[in-house]
Formats: sequence, structure tokens, C-alpha cells
Amino acid sequence: MRKIKTAVIGAGFMGRVHAEGIRRLGHVEIAAVAGISDDEANRFGQAIGVERTTGDYRAIIADPEIEAVHVCTPNALHYPISKAALEAGKAVLCEKPLTLNAAEARELVELAESRKLPNCVNHNLRYYPVVQHMRRLIEAGELGDVLVVQGTYSQDWLLYDTDYNWRIEAKDNGPLRVTGDIGSHWMDMIQHLTGLRITALCADLQTFHKTRKRPKVAIETFAGKTLRPEDYEEVPVDTEDFASVLLRLGDRARGAFTVSQVNAGCKNRFQVEVFGTKCGVMWNQERPDELWIGYRNEPNRIIVKDPALLLPKAAAYADLPGGHGEGYDDAHKQVFRRFYQKIADPSAPVEYPTFAEGLRGMRLLEKVIESNRNRCWVEVD
Ligand SMILES: NC(=O)c1ccc[n+]([C@@H]2O[C@H](COP(=O)([O-])OP(=O)(O)OC[C@H]3O[C@@H](n4cnc5c(N)ncnc54)[C@H](O)[C@@H]3O)[C@@H](O)[C@H]2O)c1
Repeated sequence: MRKIKTAVIGAGFMGRVHAEGIRRLGHVEIAAVAGISDDEANRFGQAIGVERTTGDYRAIIADPEIEAVHVCTPNALHYPISKAALEAGKAVLCEKPLTLNAAEARELVELAESRKLPNCVNHNLRYYPVVQHMRRLIEAGELGDVLVVQGTYSQDWLLYDTDYNWRIEAKDNGPLRVTGDIGSHWMDMIQHLTGLRITALCADLQTFHKTRKRPKVAIETFAGKTLRPEDYEEVPVDTEDFASVLLRLGDRARGAFTVSQVNAGCKNRFQVEVFGTKCGVMWNQERPDELWIGYRNEPNRIIVKDPALLLPKAAAYADLPGGHGEGYDDAHKQVFRRFYQKIADPSAPVEYPTFAEGLRGMRLLEKVIESNRNRCWVEVD
């Protein structure tokens, strides 16, 4: 496959994850990285062995040799950076949630379509091998008709009022924090797995910490450091810590999920359960190679990832034999591989989440806001 030059914009947690995933593809070179400042970009470049670094992402956008960019910045920058990159003719792989609102997302979808440029929103959780197995079981009718969907995405890294991150502030994050940050993954997953659309929802949001202590110095995402009292300032919080959402899926199925960043002990407890007229399945990201299958009239099973035993379309997402774990980094690699296949060969199928799906996600988030504000069910058309 021909060599493709790409760039990573954003030098934090996801910048590092994306750099790792890109490097594992082989035919894609990270030609440059950008951070919020020259200094941050230099440190990032040194850490991952990329020489060209910049504190101004526009230098990357202006380089015609760079064919694609990865947008790994705080959410408020997804739209302007993606827009500038598309206008410059680059393929864009952007982190979730795609934008701050549906109007911005719609603009990006239209721009990418009019320029015929590959575009991807990073719903990496879809691409664990046993998740794909679960999806193909449902598609093949092994569960029967889907009746009930339920689950959670629970974390604990914002439990204390001294925990702080840019996500707390709506200006950088968007109006929904926990629902946008991790609920977006859950809603994407349930629709991807079942092939059904969320048709109505009823949401209840809670901000437990009405104020938080913001560090006067910068701290890293997920670093969980405790500073001294004089290092903080108390600020009001305008984003939610917790949400519970009731769902209708398609015509018949019903369900619910919760999302939280204040559940002690839950690190990344992404759990999804689907129950049909024949059997049920359950997957938890903290045990990524295991899939629970539950029956009414026979013993339940736990199957362990083994590409030789997965359904063929799911096995294509496993690179290692059974017994060798495949996790978070591997799922990113699977998304990136398919995205760059499309860049290398425009006739390749679109086997990654597109901006159009990111737009649908943003519309769902706006429905969550509407439902919570009006204390009622809302239809999703
Ligand atoms: N798909 C996933 O599994 C997943 C997981 C975590 C985060 N995310 C998403 O990734 C994005 C980044 O989150 P994170 O956890 O890496 O945050 P982070 O704070 O660790 O990193 C953000 C980086 O962007 C940099 N930045 C800020 N302004 C910039 C600018 N103008 N130009 C260049 N760089 C700039 C920051 O300095 C920082 O290095 C968010 O949109 C988040 O929702 C996705």
C-alpha cells in the first residue's frame, strides 16, 4: 500500500493513543504533531520520535503533503480544526463527540461530502473482536428479536470536588459532559450492535458538585493528582456528573443506560447488554476478550476471544490468536486501518464510523438536553 503522511493535532491522552495506533499500521507516517504551544508540541514530538512539531495547527493544515489529520483536542476545537482541514482537502479522523452541537456537525458532514473526503468520528469501542462477534450474532438472528437493551458507562475519576479537567467547563467541552464524553459511545454502540435507531428518550441529569476546586496550575487528564488548598480556586460547574436515560429503540425494543464520572471503583466500566426473544449477550470493556451469552433453558456461557472460533466477519477484527488479549489500543488500530484503507483506495468500503454518524450522535445529545430541561420524553426523528 502507498505511504500516506498524516498529522496528530492534540498532545494529550488521545494524541498519544492515536500516535500509537497510526504507528502500528505500517504505511502511514506521522509527518508532524501539534500542541497548544510550541513547548507542548516539542515534548510530545520528542516522546514519540516525531521531529516536526508546532504550536500552531494551521501550519499542518497548510502543508499539501499531509493527506490526513487526527483531531485529538478538547471538543470545542473539533469543529474549527476539522473544518479547516477539510477545506484544505485533507481526510479527517476526529475524536468524539464530533462537535459542540448538531449544526456544526451537519456543516462538517456536508463539507466532507461535497469534497468527497474520508471522514471518521472515533467510536473505537465498536471494534473489539467480541463486540463485532456480538453484532454479527444479532445480525444473524441468533438473539431473536431484540426486546431489552441496558447498560452503563461508569468512571470515578471526577468523584472528588478537587478533581478537575477541561471537560468540566461547557465552553471547552460542550453543554453535556458525562453524556457527551462517554454516553455518546454508549448510544453509538447500542445502535451499531442492534442495527436499530434510538427513536425516543427520556433523560435525567445530575450535577452533584455544584462547584469544584479548579487547580491554578495545569494538570493532565486522568492524572488524579491532589494539590495543596492554596493551589485551587472554587468555580461553579455547568456540566453534569451523572445521567440516566430511558430509551426506545426501533419500534419494539426498550431500554436504559446510566453514565457517571463519580462511581467509586469504576474505572472504565462500559457495559452493554442486549436481550432478545432467544437469548441475551453482555460485554464489559474491563474484560474485553469475554462475551457472556445467557439462555433461559440451557446453561449460560462465557466465550473467550479466539479468531478461529469467532464468526468470520468478527474474526477480521482480531489480529492475535486466542489467549492473547486485545484491548483499547488494538481497537483504535482497527478503526485507523480501515480509515487509511479508504484513503489509499477510494473504492474501499466505509467500515468505520463517519461524520454522518457523529451528527446523529450530536442530535441525540441535543434530545437529551431537551428531555432533561422539559422533564419529559422526546421523539427522535
Ligand atoms: N475515543 C476515546 O476512547 C476517547 C478517550 C478519551 C478522550 N477522547 C476524546 O479525545 C479528545 C481529547 O481528549 P484527551 O483526553 O486526550 O484530552 P487531553 O486534555 O489529555 O488532551 C488534549 C490536548 O489538546 C491540546 N490542545 C488544546 N488546544 C490545542 C490547540 N489549539 N492546538 C493543538 N492542541 C491543543 C492540549 O494542550 C492537550 O495536549 C476529546 O475530544 C475527548 O472527548 C476520546
